[in-house]
Amino acid sequence: MILVTGGMGYIGSHTCVELINAGFTPIILDNLCNSHKNVLERIETITGQKPTFIEGDIRDSELLNKVFSNYPIDAVIHFAGLKAVGESVQHPLRYYDNNVVGSLSLVQAMEKAGVKRLIFSSSATVYGCSSTEPITESFSTKAVNPYGQSKLILETMFTDICHADPEWQMVILRYFNPIGAHESGLIGEDPNGIPNNLLPFISQVAIGKRDKLQVFGGDYDTHDGTGVRDYIHVCDLASGHVAALNHLPYKSNCLAVNLGTGKGYSVLDVINAFEKASNKKIPYDVVERRLGDIDIYFADASLANSLLNWQAQFNIDDMCRDTWRWQQKNPNGYLG
Ligand code: NAD
Ligand code: UFG
Repeated sequence: MILVTGGMGYIGSHTCVELINAGFTPIILDNLCNSHKNVLERIETITGQKPTFIEGDIRDSELLNKVFSNYPIDAVIHFAGLKAVGESVQHPLRYYDNNVVGSLSLVQAMEKAGVKRLIFSSSATVYGCSSTEPITESFSTKAVNPYGQSKLILETMFTDICHADPEWQMVILRYFNPIGAHESGLIGEDPNGIPNNLLPFISQVAIGKRDKLQVFGGDYDTHDGTGVRDYIHVCDLASGHVAALNHLPYKSNCLAVNLGTGKGYSVLDVINAFEKASNKKIPYDVVERRLGDIDIYFADASLANSLLNWQAQFNIDDMCRDTWRWQQKNPNGYLG
């Protein structure tokens, strides 16, 4: 069994589907602070299997000890955490508590139970700077906000644990920009309130929930002046976790691996691709840069290819098509 913390969330739910399709049995631990219970039924509709679900918090050590003694868990995929950059600047304690304290309590329970295989959700945000060269895992790291800092602290903590005890097997996955949704249109990203991220915002404009998009900055040093990112389909990301899980037994170290496509697209490129996929016009204004944003970054994804035998399969048109299908089928997300 694979314990999936945060498995009811955006990336976790897609990963549960991939795990089931690959013959693994996921068991989900999630406190539902940013997800809905009906994700479970949706996973069952897609796969024919409903994962065991435990509603609870990773900071609850007693609960974790029970989970590890009640279920035969072989490995943990750890998604649970908070992820809103702006909120982390305003409420840093929430981020250090949920992400850092929560992950500490998780690995303590794992150690106690003798479960020493972990896959961790990190982020390209740990690189913290712009680059016109593909970013390899050996690039220097820098935290630019408390959210990024929480990921860096955890990367360091996990590396130290592996160095001290070679029985630990960990893969730290550094995601670039996950977008898209499962092809069924049954699971997808369901942000609370006004979306912070580009794709959820564009799709809410396309469906008529918002008037127009604000393009943050038109004077970046990129091919059209707007910010460039490496967008990756969430199903590719999910299959990257299965690849990492299959790899775990062969590596006793703590390994950091980028998950991206290796291609960068600007905000205007994404608007064009989305207009094509949805056959809708996306009105936009180019406004001031958003504080903390950087010009351009995209992955060198060759390590994932050579080591995990993984490569992204979906392109930007597929990502926009699937985001749009999810948005159309669920105009109000999981609430209908
Ligand atoms: P999400 O918010 O959709 O999923 C996270 C899940 O964790 C939610 O279901 C939430 O209820 C749960 N959770 C949060 N704190 C918890 C706690 N203390 N105990 C139990 N459950 C808890 O987010 P996501 O986009 O699926 O991201 C998953 C992971 O990937 C996060 O760690 C995030 O930092 C990381 N990540 C996300 C992105 C992105 O752009 N989505 C990029 C890079 C890294
Ligand atoms: N953008 C707009 N208008 C919007 C939203 C975004 O122009 O309404 C632009 C941004 O300026 C940026 C690009 O679209 O150039 C992508 O922005 P997102 O907010 O979608 O994503 P970020 O690259 O800022 O950050 C995301 C996550 C981070 C994570 C990072 C790398 O929010 O948590 O990807 O994984 F660290």
